[in-house]
Parts: sequence; structure tokens; C-alpha cells
Amino acid sequence: MTWGTDDAADWKAAAERAGNAVLAANPNLLIVVSALCFCMDLRPVKQYPIQFSVANRLVYETHNYIEFQVATLASNNFFSWAQVNERATWALVVLAALDLLCMWAWYRIGKPWPRKSTLLALVAGWGSFFTAVFAGVSFFGFYFYSMYCSYVAHNYFLPWGIILTVCCLLLLLLGAWAACIGLRIQTSDNCGVVPEVCEDICVGNSDDEKSLSELSDVDPLFRAHKDRIPGFAREPGFESLSIAQEYCLGRKRHLPPPPLPPIWDCGMLLFLQIFMFLAVCTLLAIVLVVFSHLADTFWYMRFVFDTKWGFALAEGFPYTAPVWMGEFGQQVRGSYWLNVLRYLAERDVDFAYWPLNGKKYSEGYFSSSGGFVYWDQPQSGQESQIRELTEAISKDLAGHTTQGAHGLNYHHKSPGDEGTTFFMPSKSLLGEGALRGAVQQIKALGHKKALIVTDAVLVKVGAVKAATDVLTEAGITFAIYDGCQPNPTVSQVEAGLKMIKQESCDFVLSFGGGSPHDCAKAIAITCTNGGDIRAMEGVDKSTQPMLTLVAVNTTAGTGAEMTRFCIITDEERHVKMAIVDWRVTPTLAVNDPKTMIGMPKSLTAATGMDALTHAIEAYVSTISNPVTDACALHAMKLISSYLPTAVEDGKNLKARDMMAYAEFLAGMAFNSASLGYVHAMAHQLGGMYNLPHGVCNAILLGPVQEYNAKYVPHLFIDIAVALGFSEVGEDQDLAVKKALKAIKDLKNRVGIPKRLFQEEPRNLKAFKEVKVEHFPALAGNAMKDACGLTNPHQPTKDEVIALFQAAYDQEDDDVDEVEMLQKQLSAAAARCKDAAALKKAMWLATIVFNSQLRLFSQQALHAERRWEDESFGLLMNDSWSVRHTWKLLDIQALMDSPVKWTPEDYPCVRQKLGSACGY
Ligand SMILES: NC(=O)c1ccc[n+]([C@@H]2O[C@H](COP(=O)([O-])OP(=O)(O)OC[C@H]3O[C@@H](n4cnc5c(N)ncnc54)[C@H](O)[C@@H]3O)[C@@H](O)[C@H]2O)c1
Ligand SMILES: [Fe+2]
Repeated sequence: MTWGTDDAADWKAAAERAGNAVLAANPNLLIVVSALCFCMDLRPVKQYPIQFSVANRLVYETHNYIEFQVATLASNNFFSWAQVNERATWALVVLAALDLLCMWAWYRIGKPWPRKSTLLALVAGWGSFFTAVFAGVSFFGFYFYSMYCSYVAHNYFLPWGIILTVCCLLLLLLGAWAACIGLRIQTSDNCGVVPEVCEDICVGNSDDEKSLSELSDVDPLFRAHKDRIPGFAREPGFESLSIAQEYCLGRKRHLPPPPLPPIWDCGMLLFLQIFMFLAVCTLLAIVLVVFSHLADTFWYMRFVFDTKWGFALAEGFPYTAPVWMGEFGQQVRGSYWLNVLRYLAERDVDFAYWPLNGKKYSEGYFSSSGGFVYWDQPQSGQESQIRELTEAISKDLAGHTTQGAHGLNYHHKSPGDEGTTFFMPSKSLLGEGALRGAVQQIKALGHKKALIVTDAVLVKVGAVKAATDVLTEAGITFAIYDGCQPNPTVSQVEAGLKMIKQESCDFVLSFGGGSPHDCAKAIAITCTNGGDIRAMEGVDKSTQPMLTLVAVNTTAGTGAEMTRFCIITDEERHVKMAIVDWRVTPTLAVNDPKTMIGMPKSLTAATGMDALTHAIEAYVSTISNPVTDACALHAMKLISSYLPTAVEDGKNLKARDMMAYAEFLAGMAFNSASLGYVHAMAHQLGGMYNLPHGVCNAILLGPVQEYNAKYVPHLFIDIAVALGFSEVGEDQDLAVKKALKAIKDLKNRVGIPKRLFQEEPRNLKAFKEVKVEHFPALAGNAMKDACGLTNPHQPTKDEVIALFQAAYDQEDDDVDEVEMLQKQLSAAAARCKDAAALKKAMWLATIVFNSQLRLFSQQALHAERRWEDESFGLLMNDSWSVRHTWKLLDIQALMDSPVKWTPEDYPCVRQKLGSACGY
């Protein structure tokens, strides 16, 4: 295919003929013209723009699934660019050191520096060798591209082939010329060629200076070595002359012999060749280091795309037209994918993309499901899938999902035209001593009397004393309202309101967990706005600022001390009302770890899991932004690191402190990004059975995130990393698996009941009330809960019921995953009733399991042998990998086995392993 050549192969002419014919029939249609060369190159349009009979009907189509994709696939399967870079850098250091070592050794053993002619011959020789290789590659490229893309073949490969061939020949000539010069000098490298001068000197028939300078002039060796002849440089004159004579005659015994004349023997030449080879390798290493740095950068992709087709988007040129990117995609959400998305967004490129294998990053081209589907001929049942996937990628592209934090390349889109609001209390005090600091701030605000809203337990155990003491010390009076209970109710709010008026308090200080804070928020807002707290249900219903509220936190979970949420149970309706109002954000949020030390294990665990739920739900929320993402991820890190210690050793101030920071960070995340279906559903369980909020969340978190992961698996990469699995790389399936396992493990480790099952002996009494028959009603209410609106995918009612059911039925899987699979395998192998085969199967199983254990890291995947990667894929339920696993296990694992394998064994082992793994 050519462009603008006006012959039968002219794609431009063909496109114009076809386009004009279509436009003659319907001038309103857009004509899509594919780029050349696998649809990747539009460069010729610069010179020969397409001309249609109707203006503004041209759209270019481009693809990219070769250059970057192949490079990315290679880097995914063999070495990542980071690894290439690391290795090339090491190679560069070693090679450079060897170069220097060679030069130093050469100098130390007193060998002469090579003559220019020798060097020139060497450089030209090596240069001609490499230009010959590159010329060969160019001609091969020309031959190959001539079959598919004659434009590039003729315009790039052929000229380069010719230029390189000419260079190669010129270098050969240069080398030969330099070699001849060298030979000529070599033959004159002794005194014999200047007999007259030597003779003059030897017979003393010459004055000193003249003889010496003559000798220097005519004898390059003497010139080169005179400085090394002892005494020569020091004492010109007679002594020098005698040395010169000695040099010429070769006899003067009391002086050390002058250095050997540099004879260019084979050894020296070989050494030089080795040095040149090392120098060439060093150059190649430099190129590799630079390229591996560039290879997966956005800059490089932009440069290539702009050069090849992106230029067509620039306004005002005869060739300017929109570009529609048709085929692009990748098996993993790697740098290629992110860079392409960024490019599409940055250059406003249109796109269409419809992978049908369920993996968003992959396209049919390289996937096992194969094949493309076109809009005009979708196969039955595929329309909705196409629509869904295209919507998904549109969202991805617009940055609607929360990829900003781990996708380095693009930003979240602002919802609407008013930007994103980030909600925070105006002042927050954290760390040891924060309570004392807060009281000083209240004093500075001029407040006189506090209504302390707390619960009876905290008063009874004396915890509230920590607050009353510092208030008294600061001269601030107070009244205590301790009628608040876990999951505060409308009537408790009303009682508190009555008291604040009776006691004439001028501010509210909540002391406790989420319940006192919510109760205090409700009291403080109704105190100034009047009316019933029920009227505040919904978003931003207040009209007046609330009373000053200082929220002193004694649990580390809800974030209620700093959020704009207030959850009050309406006893009549058995519903937890969500009051979302920026005016209920506490004036001062106080997190002093010392006030948290008294929390019992179960409360620490439940509140900690609540905080984890906030972080995860905020992270996958559809309205998250880079600020909330950053808070959420760091909260996850802190919780996964410190919650177990805080539970096991409640007096550990560091763990308490870190958990306080974590819950605060999680609060910062969900206060602006909101939550999801875990909370939407947990609120119903809390409202109906008065179950602890954190426990409900912890039990629902796994099933709901498993559901979410089907829609936003990529978001689980950073979640898995934050929860401690830094090695998941870019494998989103693995990340989902690891994240879900981490949630489950943490929940089990801190002693949260495993499920909502009523017979569960370790469960709280209230669980006995939970009935499967209630699930439809609970699901109905959950679907009305505002928290669910930002869930990454909206479930149907049946799906919500199924999620409650899943939380009810959760498996007791204390058994380690690998151990469980091993058990399955051994059972399968045992069924074979063949001791030898069993042994082999177990050995094979060990390989698979070991590889599974080791290969959780993408880096490790690259480093390990490829078949192990594939056998890991087997366990990851990937049909493509399974096929390859069998293939590779056949040829590699079985061959490597310490047990003797015969081909007859394969089907048996395959069957055993297959049935054990469910294939
Ligand atoms: N407003 C929000 O943003 C928000 C967010 C999540 C949850 N919530 C609400 O928060 C409430 C749950 O709050 P919570 O989990 O913090 O518990 P909580 O406030 O309901 O307290 C639970 C129990 O723990 C005790 N307790 C609290 N601190 C203690 C300490 N330091 N030492 C010993 N005992 C202590 C309390 O006396 C109480 O008996 C629920 O009503 C939930 O709906 C609100
Ligand atoms: Fe919560």
C-alpha cells in the first residue's frame, strides 16, 4: 500500500474514490480512513492530504497493538523495563570499570598508546561491522514491510539500508587506508631507517642539540621514548647525547636498557580488539539504559504517536481531521494502558474499544477469546456487553473512577461544573496531649459552659474524668448528658436538647465514640436551627451554623469526630437516618490516644474494621478524588499494620496513636468521597438488630468488595498493595484475591465473628435475631441508603439479598489457602491408587504451589522461569494460562523433575492435577 503515488496501490486515491462515492449518495456521512501500516502511520497525509468532495467529512482511524503492545507484553513476560534498566545500569558500571581497568593495565605495563592509524583502523573496522549489521536489519525490514506496508518500507527501511551500506563501505575503505598507513610506519620503526642520523650521532659527528632534535624528528620511536630514558630529560647535552648514542648503538652497560621499541605484535592487537569490544558493549549498555528509561514513559509514547499520527489533530492544516483510535488494548493495566488513556484524553482522540473477554485492558487481538465485534453486526447477547465495556472505558478515560491515586497519569474529573469540595473540621488535634490542647482552644474561643454528651459506660468507668479534669483546670464549667447509647436515637437527641437549654450551655463537647459524637451533632444543630432532628435527614438541610462542637474521640473507627455525617436511629421506623450536612462538621476534632487506651479488644477490633471499611469504600467510591484516595490508601496501610497490635496490646500507645491517625485519614477520605454498599447494608443491620456498626461492616466488607471487584478490579491493585501485598504488580485478578484475603485475615485475626449466621457460637447474642426472611426488607432499605449511591456498581435488589446471604453463609476458611489446595491435590492423587504416580503428582503439586507462593510478585514472575508463571496462571483460573501450563508442564516441569517421567505418566498427572484444581 502506498500513499499519493497515483497507481493501483495508492491508498489515498482509493480512499478518496470510495469516500466521494459514499458522499455522493449521502453527503452527511463521515468517512473513516485507516492509517497506513497496521493502521499506525499517517505521516504521508502531510504531503498528500485527503480531499473529499464534501468538506469536514474525514475521520482518520489509527490502531496501536504492535510497537508498544509487543514491548509491554515482552516486559510483562520476561523483564520489566525497570528490570532491564537496573540490569543495563549494572552492566554499564561493570563494562565501564573493565574499560578503565584495561586502560590502566595497559599504562602500567608500559605499553605504548596505539597510533592514530591503528585506532582509526580499529574504529572503522568495528564501525563497518555494526553498520553492516544494521544495514542487514534495514534490508530485512524493507523486505518484511514491503509485504504489509510499502510506505514505511520504501520511505524508511530502504533509504536507511542504502545509507548504512554506503557508510559501511566508506568505513571499510577508511579502515583499510589506516591499516596501510600503520603498516608503513611499522616498517620504519627502527633506527635502521635513519642510518645517517644515527651514524652521525654514534661517531659524534654532530652537535648535541642538533643531533637530538634530528633524531627526534626522524625517529618516532625515539621521540616517543626519549622522556622515558633515564637522565635524558634532566641533562640535555653530552650525557643526553651519549644516551642517544646508546639508544642508537644499543650498548651502554651502566644504564638500564631503554624501553623496548613498541612492536605491534598480535597480543597487543588482540588486547586492543578486546578493549574495542568492551567499549562497543559499553556504548550499547548506555543506549539500553537510556531507552529502558524512556520506553514506558508517556513522553516517549506521545512523541511516537504525535510523530506518526497525532499531528493530524493540530488545527489549521490541510490534513487536519479528527482521529478515531480503533484497536488498542493490553492484557494488563500497565504503563502502556495508562499512557494510551492519557494520550487519548490529552489529545482528545476519539476511540472505540470492545474487548469481549471480560477483561477491560485486553482486546481480542491477543486474547484467547479472540476476534472483534463490529457495531453493525454484533452477535446476539453481545450488545449489552459492548455497551457496558464501552461505558466502563469512557469512565476510565474521564477519570470518573478512582484510579487517580495509583494511575499516575491522569486526574479525576470534577463532578459537575463546580469543582470538588473537600470537607474537614477547621481545626483538628491529634496525638498525645490533644485533649489538653483542645481545651486551651475552647478557652481562647471564649466559651464558658459545656454540655458533655457521652454515654453512661464512659461515665461509670471514669473515662469522662479525663475531660472534666482539664475543663475544670481551664475554668470551664460543664453539665454531663450521659443518656446517649450506642446507635443513638431521636429521643436521646431530644433529651440532650432539653438539657442544653436547661443548663444554659454555650457549647457542646462530645466524649466517646461515634454514638456520642452523632448525638452531640444532632443536639448542636437542632439547638440553633430549631425543629425536629428528623427534618434534617438528607443533605444540607440546616440553615444556621450549629453550636460550637468539640468532639473528643475515644474509639478509633467511625471518624464521626470529624465528618459531616450524623447517624441517628428513628426508633419508630427502625431506620438509621443519615444526616449529611457540612454544618454538623465538629468545630474541633480531638484524637488523643490516651483516651482510647481503655477500649476493650472487641471494641478496638470492631471500630478498627469500621475505619478499614471507610477507607476501602471511599477508595472505590465513584466520587473519590486524588486527595481522598491518598488518605484512604494511607489509612489502609496503617490499619493493616497497627490494628492487630492495638487489639492484642491495648496499652500500646504507638498502636493506639497510629490507629487514631488511620481512622482520621479514613474519615478524611469518606467525608468527601462518601461510602458504598457495605455501609448501606450495615446501617440496616444496625437499625434492625442494634448490632455494633463496626462488626456489621467487617462481616459485610468481604462479600461486598468481592462484588465490587467484578466491576473495578483494577482499583484493587493499590488496595492490595496498601494491605501489604506490594508484589501484586499489575495483576488485577491477583490483587483482588489478595485484597479479599487480607480483609478476611484481618477480620479473623482481630476476632470479629465470621458471619451473620445465628448459630455461630462466637457471635454476639444479637446475631440470633438475624433471619434470612428479613433479608428482602433489609435489602429494600439498603437500596434507599444514601451511602450506596457512590458504590462502584449499583446492585439489583436480588443482588443485595444475595450479598446479605453471602455474609450469612461465609465459609470458615481458617485453613491456609495453599494448604487447602494441597489437601485437594493429595486427595485427587490418592484416588489414582498408584504410589509412583502419586509421588510424581505430589512433586508436581509442590512445584505448582511453590510457584504460587513465590510468584505473587509481578517482579518475581519476570524473574522466574516462564512455565512457573503459567502454572501460577492455572491456579488463577485463567483458561489461556491453563492450556499453556499443560504445554509447559509437559515440556519443562516433567523434564526437570527429579523423578523419572515417562510420557505415559503425563495424562495421569494431568488428570490428577486437573481434577484437583477443578479443570
Ligand atoms: N457520623 C459518622 O460519620 C459515623 C460514621 C460511622 C459510624 N457512625 C456511628 O457511630 C456509632 C458507632 O460508634 P463507635 O463504634 O465509635 O462506638 P460507640 O460510640 O457506639 O461506643 C460503643 C461502646 O464502646 C464504649 N466505649 C467507647 N469508647 C471507649 C473507651 N475508650 N474505652 C472503653 N469503652 C469505650 C462506649 O461506652 C459504648 O458502650 C454508630 O451509631 C454509627 O452509626 C457515625
Ligand atoms: Fe462506619
